[in-house]
Amino acid sequence: MAFVVTDNCIQCKYTDCVAVCPADAFHEGPNFLAIDPVDCIDCGLCVPECRANAIFQEDELPAGQEVFIILNEDLAKQWPKITEVKPPLADAQKWNGVADKLDMLQN
Ligand code: SF4
Ligand code: F3S
Repeated sequence: MAFVVTDNCIQCKYTDCVAVCPADAFHEGPNFLAIDPVDCIDCGLCVPECRANAIFQEDELPAGQEVFIILNEDLAKQWPKITEVKPPLADAQKWNGVADKLDMLQN
C-alpha cells in the first residue's frame, strides 16, 4: 500500500509534502510530484502538509483519481528525487482547486 499524489497537485506543486517524508519517496517533474510506491512506508505524514489536498492512500482515492496510481509509479521511475521544499509554481493559487488538470501534466 502506498499514498498517491492526485490531480490537484498539477500546476501547484507546493512541495511542503517532501519536508516530512521519512522515506524520501517523492520525485519531481515540471508541474507535479509523484510518490514512489516502493519507497512509501504508508505513514500518512504528507497528507495534512499538502495545501492542495492532493494526497490520498491508494485505497481511499476520490472517484476518478484511480489513474494516478499507475502515473505515480511510472513517473517516480523517470523523475529525480526531491527532498527539500522549494517555492510553488507561479500560478499555484490560481490552479489550486481547478478540476481535471491531467491534460496539463508535463513529463
Ligand atoms: Fe512519504 Fe509517508 Fe507520504 Fe509515503 S505516506 S509519501 S512515506 S510521507
Ligand atoms: Fe503537490 Fe501537495 Fe506536494 S501540491 S507537491 S502534493 S504539497
